Amino acid sequence: MNTLTVHLAEKSYPIFLGPVAESGPSLDRFCAGRNVLFAADSNTRAWQRPVLDLIEKSAMHLECFTFPAGEASKTIDTVLRMIEQASRANFGRDALFIAFGGGVCGDMTGFAAAIYMRGIPFIQIPTSLLAMVDSSIGGKTAVDTVFGKNLIGAFHQPLAVYIDTDFLKTLPERQFRNGMAEIIKAGVLGAPELYRMLKQTSMEKLRADRTLLETAVFQACDLKRRIVEQDECETHSSIRVRLNYGHTFGHAVELLSGFSLNHGESVAIGMDMAAQYAFEEGLCSREFLLSQRGLLQRYGFDLNAGNGLSPEEILRAMFHDKKNRHGKIRVILPESVGTVLVQEIPDPKKLEMFLRKYLAEVRS
Ligand code: GLY
Repeated sequence: MNTLTVHLAEKSYPIFLGPVAESGPSLDRFCAGRNVLFAADSNTRAWQRPVLDLIEKSAMHLECFTFPAGEASKTIDTVLRMIEQASRANFGRDALFIAFGGGVCGDMTGFAAAIYMRGIPFIQIPTSLLAMVDSSIGGKTAVDTVFGKNLIGAFHQPLAVYIDTDFLKTLPERQFRNGMAEIIKAGVLGAPELYRMLKQTSMEKLRADRTLLETAVFQACDLKRRIVEQDECETHSSIRVRLNYGHTFGHAVELLSGFSLNHGESVAIGMDMAAQYAFEEGLCSREFLLSQRGLLQRYGFDLNAGNGLSPEEILRAMFHDKKNRHGKIRVILPESVGTVLVQEIPDPKKLEMFLRKYLAEVRS
């Protein structure tokens, strides 16, 4: 079992990477003598029993809260139902919430834990690749509103994160690829060794080789750990915000595709757009642009999937991004593998022209 520690003074916590059943002693220790609410989405039923057995061994009392899998569940109503169940069972501030599922489950359970009795501890046990390498680490918790994703939320760090790549055995290929976009992003952002490894392997090999997959997940988590340690609450103008590489373009593409493109598929297009824009601005080399494009395509991302979307509407959606300041769009642009910078776009017309050209070209 590999362990990383996110160093945040009194809020520091471990990330355990390995079979969750083998981490029994530490999960026991966190649950011992506590009331535990286990929140899980309906997709995870097949994996729940061994984890529940571990919790039941030491918890004082266990409540299970299950909700339908999918973004539609990520609402304040689901959080209220979770909290009401804890209240009915008379859970106090010493209770523990455990999130068992993908990003929706982790974000929502973390938010419930952040506000229940003004904040109680919670543990993340992510079951999707996307949640393992991104959302389970760093304490961003939230629910959606009709106005957009993650608009109600809080920073609330977990007590521990358990990453067991065995849960990915039944993850459909498209969902696996969804998480791969964040691993590739981590490589570009600040893990050149990971980037090189991804260049040499493939999604098929990663899916088939537990050690290889754990190495990639470990390096992506380690990059996120380093960034979160420097800028926990994204207050610095250019540290944690870098984790949004590919996301400003990507979120707009995801939204305008009517969510027919998932997060990873959209972020992959967003990274390619950011690199093409950076190249045209003289920030990165053609070699980097083509290297990243080749890597994204190697992992099966269709970089033409956004073609046909309206450049005007993409630009409009980018104006709603949470990273924008003083009404100006801010994007994360690459310089080379391991170096990205945050840049304000002074001229939206130029960006629109760029989008028009990008969306008309076919990349093969
Ligand atoms: N997923 C971006 C962040 O955690 O900051």
